Amino acid sequence: MVTGFIGLMGISAVTKKLGGYANTKLHGILASFGLICVLLGLWVIWKNKELHGKDHITTTHALMGIITIACAVGPAIVGAVFLHPDFGIDKTNQQFRFAHKWFGRIVIASAYVTGFLGLKHMTSDILVLLTYAVPLMILGPMALLD
Ligand code: HEM
Repeated sequence: MVTGFIGLMGISAVTKKLGGYANTKLHGILASFGLICVLLGLWVIWKNKELHGKDHITTTHALMGIITIACAVGPAIVGAVFLHPDFGIDKTNQQFRFAHKWFGRIVIASAYVTGFLGLKHMTSDILVLLTYAVPLMILGPMALLD
């Protein structure tokens, strides 16, 4: 989840800021690989729970995680179908561009918070929690905002 949402999707957002044809394609590729990582991660978590006979979606972290993952599919579809620089069917549509950009940002930010809630289930060590949260609080706005 961290590799997909924070690593790949985060880098993809920064790449898009650089602008231009090649960077837009690279943005799409990185974000799509991010989504694949996230979906694989979800599958592994789900299977592992089944294997150990545990219930699904029992915490706020899990609920937020499922919603965030479901929402991450939206920007991927809109990006690939409508905005792709080669074959996007409506790539100059400002409404789609705006919606994709802001929905994508909200999804990635929501993953930051979801990850923090997950870590809180694993530890109450303030140093560990800060090690996760502080870099994201500093770098997150730089990656996601203009
Ligand atoms: C899970 C998949 C995706 C996520 C989470 C995502 C997220 C984002 C984010 C956060 C931005 C804003 C970047 C900034 O701060 O300037 C953005 C912009 C953009 N993305 Fe994606 N993206 C995804 C997939 C794609 C794909 C597959 C394409 C197709 C190549 C694409 C094309 C674009 C374009 C053209 C923009 C610029 C929109 C504008 O500012 O006018 N995205 N995306």
